[in-house]
Amino acid sequence: MSNSDKLQQFKEVRSKMLAGGGEARIKDQHDKGKFTARERVKGLLDDGSFIESQAYIQGRSTEFGMDKKRFSGDGVVTGSGKINGKQVFISSQDFTVLGGSLGEMHAEKIAEAQSLALKTGSPFIQVNDSGGARIQEGILALNGYAKIFRNNTLSSGVIPQFSVILGPCAGGAVYSPAITDFIFMVDGTSHMYITGPDVIKAVTGEIISHEDLGGAAAHCAKSGVAHFRFGTEAECFDFVRKLMDYLPSNNLEQPPVTIPEDSSERITKVMSLIPDEPKKPYDVRDIIGEVFDSQSFLEVHKDFAKSVVVGFAKLNGRTVGIFANQPNYMAAALDINSSDKGARFIRFCDSFNIPVITLVDVPGYLPGIAQEHGGIIRHGAKILFAIAEATVPKISLIIRKSYGGSMIAMSSKSLGYDRVLAFPTAEIAVMGAEGAANVISRKEINEASDPSAKRVEKIAEFQEQFMNPYVAAGYGLVDDIIDPDYTRVELIRALEMNITKREDRPAKKHGNIPL
Ligand code: HXC
Repeated sequence: MSNSDKLQQFKEVRSKMLAGGGEARIKDQHDKGKFTARERVKGLLDDGSFIESQAYIQGRSTEFGMDKKRFSGDGVVTGSGKINGKQVFISSQDFTVLGGSLGEMHAEKIAEAQSLALKTGSPFIQVNDSGGARIQEGILALNGYAKIFRNNTLSSGVIPQFSVILGPCAGGAVYSPAITDFIFMVDGTSHMYITGPDVIKAVTGEIISHEDLGGAAAHCAKSGVAHFRFGTEAECFDFVRKLMDYLPSNNLEQPPVTIPEDSSERITKVMSLIPDEPKKPYDVRDIIGEVFDSQSFLEVHKDFAKSVVVGFAKLNGRTVGIFANQPNYMAAALDINSSDKGARFIRFCDSFNIPVITLVDVPGYLPGIAQEHGGIIRHGAKILFAIAEATVPKISLIIRKSYGGSMIAMSSKSLGYDRVLAFPTAEIAVMGAEGAANVISRKEINEASDPSAKRVEKIAEFQEQFMNPYVAAGYGLVDDIIDPDYTRVELIRALEMNITKREDRPAKKHGNIPL
C-alpha cells in the first residue's frame, strides 16, 4: 500500500470512527431532540480544546454475534479538554452505538478518563446516555461498572465530579452518578431509575410514565437525587460551564478568585426585606441577592427540601457556599430532607476549600411522628457533624430566629463557627417565647385568676429578657451585633479575616457521619 493509500485508509477509518453508529442513528438521536456524544463534548468544552483518548478501542466480545458489531470507540467518547481554560476530563456515551450500552472496553475507557482526572487533579464530567449494562457482555459489563464506581469513590473529595444525564440511565448505572457531586438533568430527555415502568408494573402493579418516574422534575423536586434541572441540553451545558468557574480543580487548590464588579463597601438594604411581624415569612433569596456579589448566586437543589436554600455565590470575588434557612417554606424548620441537603452541600464545600456562610432564621428541627420515625435524629445529626467536621472558614449571620438544636447547627461558635454575627432583630434562645412561657410558667399561668392574661404577660416577659441578641453576645457566643445596612461590608470583613484559616483534625481513617 502506498503512503497515499495509507492516508486514504486512515481518513476512511477515522471518518467511520467519528460517525459512531452512523448517519441514520445520528438522525434518530437528533429527531429525539438530543445531541450526539461528540456534539455534547463540543458543547461543554472550549472550542478546539478536546483531546481524545482511546478513540479506536473496540469491544472484544464474540458472543451473540458481537464480533460483527464492532465500533471504533465502543460507544463512548472520552478525553480531556478545557472549560474557560480549566482542564477537565470527560466521558460522553454514544447512544447511536449499541444504545450507548456499557461493555467491557467502553467501561475501560471511562475508567481511564477517571484515572487521568484523578492523577492530574482535574474535574471529571460524565455524560450518560445509555441502555445500561451491555447485555451480550454480561458479567464483564458489570465488572466495568464496578471499576467506574470505585474510581468515583476514590475521586470523591479530591476532584469535583459532575454527572450530566442526557438519556436513559437505568439499573445499577444510576449509582455512578449517585456517587458523584452533582447531577444535571434535562426535562423530557433524562431518565434515571433502578427499574423502569414495565418492571414496576409487573412487580407492584403501579402504572407510571418514564418521565414521571425518573425524569428531571421527579429527581430534582421529589427524590433529591438530582441537583439541577434544565429545559434544553444547551442551557444545561452553559450552566455546567458556569458552575465549573466557581470551583477549584481539586482539593489542594483554592477556588478561583475573580475581580468583583460589585463594591465591597456597598450598603445593603436588608432590613426592608424582613417583615416587622416575626412570624411573617420572607424569601431569603432576596437577602442573598442583595448582599452577595451581584447576580452571582447559583442555587443548588432549588426545588428539593425548600426549607433551606443552598448554593454558591461570590463575595468580593471569592467563591462561598451559602447555607440559609428559608422562612418562606415550612417556616424554615429543618426536616429530614433539608438536613441531608444542607449536610451534603457543606461537605462538598469543605472538600474543596469553599468557605461556608450560614444565614440563620430557624425555629428548630421539625416536630412530628413522621419526622421522628423517619429518622430526624439520624438525619438532623448530619448538619452538626458536617459543620463540626469542616475546616473551611465558617461564618454565621443570625437574621431573626435561632432556636434550640437548630441554633447550634446554624450558628454555634462552640460547634465550630469562626465568626458569628447577629442583626439587632436576632432572637437566640432555647425555644420561642410562647413555648418557653408554657413550660417554665405553666403552674403560675394555671393558678392565675386570668390564665390567658398571665400567659400573655409571661410570654412578653420571656421575649423581653431572652429574645434578643444581647444575652448571647454577653456570653461571647455572638461576636458582633451589626447594622443590617453593613451586612455586605461585615461579611466581607469576616471572610477576609478567616480566609487563611488552618485547622487540623485528629488523624483517623475517616469519620462515621450518620447516614
Ligand atoms: C445491549 C442495548 C442495550 C443493552 C439498548 N440496546 N440497551 N444493547 N445492551 N443494555 C440496543 C438496542 O438493542 C438497540 O439496538 C439500540 O441499543 C437502541 O435501543 P432501542 O431500544 O431501539 O432504543 P429506545 O427505543 O430509545 O429505548 C432505549 C431503552 C431500551 C429504553 C434504553 O433500549 C431499553 O430498555 N434497553 C434495555 C435497558 C436495560 O434493561 N438495561 C440493562 C439494565 S441493568 P438495535 O441494533 O436493535 O437498534 C444494568 C445493570 C447495571 O444496567 C448494573 C451495574 C452495577
